[in-house]
Amino acid sequence: GELIGKAPSMQLLYRTMQKVAATDATVLIAGESGTGKELVARSLHSGSNRAAGPFVALNCAAIPETLIESELFGHERGAFTGAHRRREGRFSEAEGGTLFLDEIASMPLPLQSSLLRVLQERRFTRLGGTGEISSDVRVVAASNRDLPQMVADGLFREDLYYRLNVVGLEIPPLRSRREDVPLLAETLLERSARAHGIKIGSLPVEILRRFMEYHWPGNVRELANAVERLVLLAEDGALQAGDLPPEVARSTVGSAVPFRLPAEGLDWESMEGDLLRQALKRCDGNRAAAARLLGLAYKAFLYRLEKYGLASDDSDIGTEGPDMGNITRG
Ligand SMILES: Nc1ncnc2c1ncn2[C@@H]1O[C@H](COP(=O)(O)OP(=O)(O)OP(=O)(O)O)[C@@H](O)[C@H]1O
Ligand SMILES: [Mg+2]
Repeated sequence: GELIGKAPSMQLLYRTMQKVAATDATVLIAGESGTGKELVARSLHSGSNRAAGPFVALNCAAIPETLIESELFGHERGAFTGAHRRREGRFSEAEGGTLFLDEIASMPLPLQSSLLRVLQERRFTRLGGTGEISSDVRVVAASNRDLPQMVADGLFREDLYYRLNVVGLEIPPLRSRREDVPLLAETLLERSARAHGIKIGSLPVEILRRFMEYHWPGNVRELANAVERLVLLAEDGALQAGDLPPEVARSTVGSAVPFRLPAEGLDWESMEGDLLRQALKRCDGNRAAAARLLGLAYKAFLYRLEKYGLASDDSDIGTEGPDMGNITRG
């Protein structure tokens, strides 16, 4: 799977990825759940001169703390109760390639020290082993937690943080790049339809509108799942808005970004008038569409247009925001 997305924030990400892929630099990827951290890690690997080597992933949150050390560095036979045979760790498996440490924030403090040591000295010791093993592995780590805050709270080693964060990549959440939603939805739809061998019609406007308005706490993974669900429940290849997950179906313009009353209060009438003008402009003056955009019944919308003197056809709907035309920069 290739990374999909053309938003400026994604293009910036691609540019940085291109620069660091070929280097051996340790990379720390930050991003909310489902933003594509693993996808970015894989793509860094395939863009590197280690591409022919292994890509090994370890999710530090998915294994019990007591097993992480042996998982990373391996163990000799008899190293601990139950260690019946020698085991290669992930560092050995990733030799000559890339080791992706997902959810690095879940790594216990003592192991953070061991990890720092491998990164600095490029050698490690197997559990229960005596000799040191030299290691040629590029480490890419990822976290969806606030590592600087964890450093401040003494939960994550500061030196390891800086060692990992030689290059930091930040993947923006989906709700901050809504312009990518249509492209993502279409592409994920094609992929899903192909994977299930189903012929699917185009994405209905009503569904796309819900997709644009929803805030996607689970980011691209959540969108992919929603699309998958629509494909599986489609009837004769037609996607149904009724098959949307309830939370997506419920989303409206208003709930997309919860509006908070500013501490200093606001001027209700000027805000209402301004929203009416914005809606009209966005819909090219189409009142029915503007009413829908505001979640108002057509009559209620017309009433408000009258109230704010926007009902005549030649009323000014020209400006969407404050006029910045005469601000001079110094
Ligand atoms: N920009 C993108 N383009 C295409 N697919 C994407 C993109 N971002 C994420 N995905 C897809 O979404 C799913 C989740 O991505 P991934 O597993 O990389 O997320 P993650 O950031 O590692 O999430 P988590 O923190 O929950 O582990 C995957 O199926 C991935 O292919
Ligand atoms: Mg992941």
